[in-house]
Amino acid sequence: MKKFTCVDDIGPLDEAVKEALEIKRDRFAFSHLGKNKTLLMIFFNSSLRTRLSTQKAAMNLGMNVMVLDVNQGAWKLETERGVVMDGDKAEHLLEAIPVMASYCDIIGVRSFAGLKDKAEDYEERVIEQFIKYSGKPVFSMEAATRHPLQSFADLITIEEYKTKKRPKVVMTWAPHPKALPQAVPNSFAEWMTKADVDFVITHPRGYELDEQFTRGATIEYDREKAFEGADFVYAKNWSAYADPNYGKVLSTDRDWTVDSRIMEKTNNAYFMHCLPVRRNMIVTDEVIESPRSIVIPEAANREISAQTVIKRLLESL
Ligand code: CP
Repeated sequence: MKKFTCVDDIGPLDEAVKEALEIKRDRFAFSHLGKNKTLLMIFFNSSLRTRLSTQKAAMNLGMNVMVLDVNQGAWKLETERGVVMDGDKAEHLLEAIPVMASYCDIIGVRSFAGLKDKAEDYEERVIEQFIKYSGKPVFSMEAATRHPLQSFADLITIEEYKTKKRPKVVMTWAPHPKALPQAVPNSFAEWMTKADVDFVITHPRGYELDEQFTRGATIEYDREKAFEGADFVYAKNWSAYADPNYGKVLSTDRDWTVDSRIMEKTNNAYFMHCLPVRRNMIVTDEVIESPRSIVIPEAANREISAQTVIKRLLESL
């Protein structure tokens, strides 16, 4: 594997999950692979889980790790070609990328959607430039349209907790005060539509996601109906994708908060969320603190998804 930005890069999902679970059983079994190899993690945006889990995964594989927070201590980077750089951005990505690549063997990049220009976001201009100009294996630590390390961890978690071959997985929009990217729900949909699950998405009208990610899913606008018989409930907020409202908050309706009443419609479902989560906006205290909440093991599996991906990238060097 030379890059990891979407579900197609990982190959058959059953094999990927099997490999991940083997790594989880003995996470130091491949510590020789990363000897004298360096991972550079580049963050254009904040992180808690991705930063720590990916660093831990690389250390499990014996790698050295360097972390660069572009907006804290580095030169501000210009990402557009052809601009007259007379503003506050001192360096262009076209020089910065090959320079950074010269210091490392594998690069992880986090760069969120700006939510102002849909075409720019959905072209994935930042991570695509890293792939094109670094000459090194590149993986996404959440890009503008996808968060594949999260979706892989989500799939591993569902595999661990499911009690039937083909569980019903419901992804529900939930309210949030700020405009958030569509990367997590896009990616979760992209992975779930390829996994052996019955996948349903529910959201208020106006929050339809890009069909390239949701094709094959059932879209159910009636939330009560969507939750019926669910084995897993995956809550997430996202801003509008459809024009002319791209990147906007259309609703903060707290009737969409996941609470105990709506969870009673399910088949005693497990509650999932990628975190960070806004309590009593996305989900009530009662649900997230219930024994059916698996948000902590889900986050712990971020180490395992990252380690599986970095292992495969190391094997390609
Ligand atoms: N779920 C996730 O990616 O968390 P962070 O934004 O804290 O990395």
